[in-house]
Order: sequence, then C-alpha cells, then structure tokens
Amino acid sequence: MCGIFGVTGLPDPLTLVADGLRALEYRGYDSAGIVTVDPERGELWRCRAAERGRSIEKLETKMHDAPVHRGATLGHTRWATHGAPNEENAHPHVDCSGRIGLVHNGIIENHRELSAELRSAGHAFSSATDTETFAHLVESKVRAGACLREAVAACLGSVTGDFAVALVDAAEPHTIVAARRTSPLIFGRTPIGAIVSSDIAAALPTTRDLYQLGDDQVVELSPDGVVVIDASGAPAEARRLAVSWSVEAAQKSGYPDFMSKEIAEQPVALAQTLLGRFSSAGVPELEELALSRRELAGFNRVVLVACGSSYHACMSGRDAIERLAKVPAEVDIASEFRYREAVLGADTLVIAVSQSGETIDTLHALREARRRGAKAIAVSNVVDSVMAREADGVIYTHAGPEIGVASTKCHLAQHALLAVFALHLAHSRGELSGESLAAAAAELTALPGLVEAALTGSQDHAAVARRYVGVNDFYFLGRRSGFTVAAEGALKLKELAYVRAEAYPAGEMKHGPISLIEPGAVVVVIALRDGLWEKVMGNVEEMRARGATVVAVCEEGDQETEAAADAVLKVPGAGALVRPIVGVVPLQRFAYEIARARGNDVDRPRNLAKVVTVE
Ligand code: AGP
Repeated sequence: MCGIFGVTGLPDPLTLVADGLRALEYRGYDSAGIVTVDPERGELWRCRAAERGRSIEKLETKMHDAPVHRGATLGHTRWATHGAPNEENAHPHVDCSGRIGLVHNGIIENHRELSAELRSAGHAFSSATDTETFAHLVESKVRAGACLREAVAACLGSVTGDFAVALVDAAEPHTIVAARRTSPLIFGRTPIGAIVSSDIAAALPTTRDLYQLGDDQVVELSPDGVVVIDASGAPAEARRLAVSWSVEAAQKSGYPDFMSKEIAEQPVALAQTLLGRFSSAGVPELEELALSRRELAGFNRVVLVACGSSYHACMSGRDAIERLAKVPAEVDIASEFRYREAVLGADTLVIAVSQSGETIDTLHALREARRRGAKAIAVSNVVDSVMAREADGVIYTHAGPEIGVASTKCHLAQHALLAVFALHLAHSRGELSGESLAAAAAELTALPGLVEAALTGSQDHAAVARRYVGVNDFYFLGRRSGFTVAAEGALKLKELAYVRAEAYPAGEMKHGPISLIEPGAVVVVIALRDGLWEKVMGNVEEMRARGATVVAVCEEGDQETEAAADAVLKVPGAGALVRPIVGVVPLQRFAYEIARARGNDVDRPRNLAKVVTVE
C-alpha cells in the first residue's frame, strides 16, 4: 500500500526520491507527492499529483520548479483509505504553519477524536485524511518548544492504530524524523547521509547498510548521524537487517514486466526454497524454525491463516499436513479468523503464511492466535518482516523479491515450503518410513525441473489463452488439490483481466451454481490424474451438456481428457505432493495473456496493492 521514501545529505535528493517512489510503485498507489526543505529560505517546497499510473511522471515535471537548494526530502505514494484519491488528499501533508511536512502509511484510528480536539484548539485542516491529524499533533508539540524528534516521540502515546510516518521540519533543514508501529519502515546509512524507505527493494540502490525500526521507536536521520529513541525519549537501538537480495533481483532485467520475469524465475525460486531442506537420506531439515522436533510432535492441531494466493497455498498445505503427518489441520482466511473467537490452546500450532510478512489481516490473525495461547509461526518471503519478528518461529521461502502485484513465484514457493513442513512434522511424529521420506524428498527435488518443463513445454499456453480474450464469465472447477489450483487460477484471472472468474469445488456445482451455466460460459477444469480424475470428467460432461466451453488443465499425453475438452493446457505429470504446484503454472500464463490482450497493466492491476497494510 502506501510507500515512503526519503533522503538526507545525498546529492540530487529529488531525483533519488522520485526513483525511490518508482521502486515502491508496485505496492499500489493512486497519488504521489514530494516535499523538500529549502535550507536557504527555511521553508518547505511541496508538489503532489493524483493521476492514476502517471503521478510520479507528473511529479518529475513539477520538480523543475523546485528550489535550487534542497535539504531533507520525503516522497510518498498513496493508496487512498481516508479521503478520495485526489491532489488535496495526497501526501505530504503540512501543519497550519506549513513548517512541518509529513508522509504516512497505515491508519490513525482515533483521528476523529484527535482532529476534533485539534480543531477546537484552532488548527485548520486542508484534507479529508486521517494523516493530517498527525502533522497538527506534532505542530502543537513543536510550538511548545520540542525539537522534531521529541515532538514525534511525544505524539506516539496519543495515536492509536498501525502506522509508519516520516517528517521534515523547515527549522531543521537536513533532518528527517521517522517512527513506526507495525507498518513497515526501514532506514539506511551511507557515509554522507541517510535514507528512509518502506521496503528493502527501494533502498538497495542507495545502501545495503539497513536497519529495521522497532515498534514505537523514533529515528532522527541527518548527515551528522542517526539517533534512535523510544517513545519516552530514552536511547534505543534499531535492528540491523541481513540483506541477501541483489539490486538486479528487483529490476525487470529485459522482461516487459515483473510478472513475466517472476513467472520465468519460478524454477530458480523453487530451487532456492528447497535448497538445504533435506539431508542426503531425504530427512527434512528446517533449521530456521525455532521449534524442536519434540515440540512439533506435541501439537495436536494445525491452523493455517493467510489471504489471497497465500491462502490458496495453505489449502494444499492443510491437505499435505493431514495426509502425511496425520494431524488435524484447517485453513482460515486471516481477516475472518481474527474475529472468529477460535478455540485455541497450547496444543495448537498456527501458521501465518504471507509473501510480504506485512499483510495486516494475517499479522493480526497471528497476534490473535498467540493471545489465545497458541504457538504461531510465520512463512514469509521477506526476511525480518513484521510477522517473522513477532512469530514464535519463521521459515522463509527465499524466492527473491516479488514485485508484480499478482503473486506467482512466491505462491509456488509457499506451496513447496508447506510441503516440506508437512514432511518435517510427519517425521517429527514418526509417521513416515525412511523410504517414504526419501520418495517425498525426491518428488520435491524434481519440482523445479517440472515447473521448468511446464513453462517451456511443447505447448504454447499463451496461444490457448488468446482464444478467450473476449470472454467475461469464467468458472474454474476442480476437486481437492485440483480445487486449490482452480481457486488460484480464478484469482489470477480476476485480479489481472478484470473478468468474473468463479472457482468452485467441481462436486458443488450441482448444488446451485450449475444454473449459471449456459452456452458461452467458459469452464476451466483441473483434470490432473489424481484419484478424482474420473469424477472430474463426469463434471466436464455436465458442463458440456449445458453448452459450456471446457478448457482442461491436463497432463501431457492425456488423450482422454484432450478428447473430452474444447481446449487443453498441458503440464507434465507429477506426484501428489507437487501436482497442485505444477498445475498452477499454465493458469498464471492464461491470466497474464488475457490481461495483456485486454490492455491491462499486469504489474499494477487497478485497485490493488502488493502489500495490504490496512484492514
Ligand atoms: C495475489 O496475486 C494477490 N495479489 C494477493 O491475493 C496476495 O496473495 C495477498 O494479498 C496476500 O499477500 P501476502 O502473501 O503478502 O500476505
């Protein structure tokens, strides 16, 4: 969602900030803005733009009017929550005097009460945002004599909600002050200055000397150094980040978009996810996880929580855990789980799965699980993410940065890692023989090659997809692991192509939705050769009998399925553990092609954000 990027002490700060904002675009935004301090005049200069997809370009034009002297500079990409996505509501916001500039990510939950108090004390507001409240709050402390750092620290106790803020003050021209609670914010040092950023990928081109600000910590950045304090003003320490990503990993590197790059990277990403996960005898090893085998064996129930594509990975994780480890497992959508009043105890293991490790619903679900007495671990792609830090243990997918809003390589990596976890749990409980473990390890080790074959096989999945560019109604059907594939395929198509795509367990169609099937409907059926293939083929017949066009995801050489369908998307045959992972691949391409042919931006689909940091 919103992105923050700021610099102090570095040459050409406006260009650096604009570049930082471009790197943060993927988080999703509808307006953008920049503020810089003019040290000569002791005043702020600010520009903002609200033009979907072109706001940063607009800012770059406006930047020609910026003052020659530029001190501390902050930029922001806004994804509207409070107040329409227009220029008045775009950040940076300023206080009454125009002396303090502020950018913000998250929500100030008690903004109504605070702004009522501030208004009655004479503060004039110029936007409909919750953000502006914070600027006026800080203003009131600064007016009372506090420096910017002290003022921000003093405000933390008054605001509720999850947020990250960064501020400049015309009276301290080379200083940036930033603070956070839950929402992401890191800072970095260079020999001559410092930066603040919402994420690592945007910061990497400037420095690798990066630090994670703790909850309710405040950092003051200036060319003279860095000072970290807590909300009481006492000295504090931020945590140094271990950064393994390269700058190139977060660039398109010749691909037309991040999504096609990330689809192509899947075999390598999976190889990284699986690297070092098995001993030579095929025994699963999850050393990252801070839970011993003995502790793991003590859990009687597993609950997986996640959102979107991560939720779909959990669906197959649940199945693998039950089938292999024989532990009752369930999966819940994080935003629902949080309010479910789930009965949890010390014998329950909750697994929060999130690419970003920041998704607010999943984070709150993780917190709720721990509050209710369960142990909670995180599966995260971003190292040191908020969830990774708050959980009782973490395992990383190590898939490299994922910039495209639609999750591809990280989704596959989550599937694979949850399969490894299921094996680890099974082994800890003594449920699998050495032979079965070795066979499962071999199946997973072959996965990168299978995905490579699915991507480069004889069939052109894109050509099949192009036949359905004009269709507005899709149904995705499958059973068990086929249904997880169907759910992910439908989500990809919805979010990228903006067409209706409903996923149903194939057996459920007769209980209502089949009444929607009429000539013209396109039904994508997952017809992989698991134990339910024959039943799925029965469903294919039902669809065709009602005039639907059937596109089947099937295995290479499966002539029976090919004969029964109008079109097929072929993948290599695979074992039960990896079949749902391989099955997703052609559907990523299917959605990608249809979206591109419809003129949509696949990296930044409308209304969506890569990282959903508000409820
Ligand atoms: C996937 O294509 C989506 N963009 C979305 O559903 C995503 O998976 C979801 O928001 C969860 O994100 P997370 O994995 O970072 O928590």
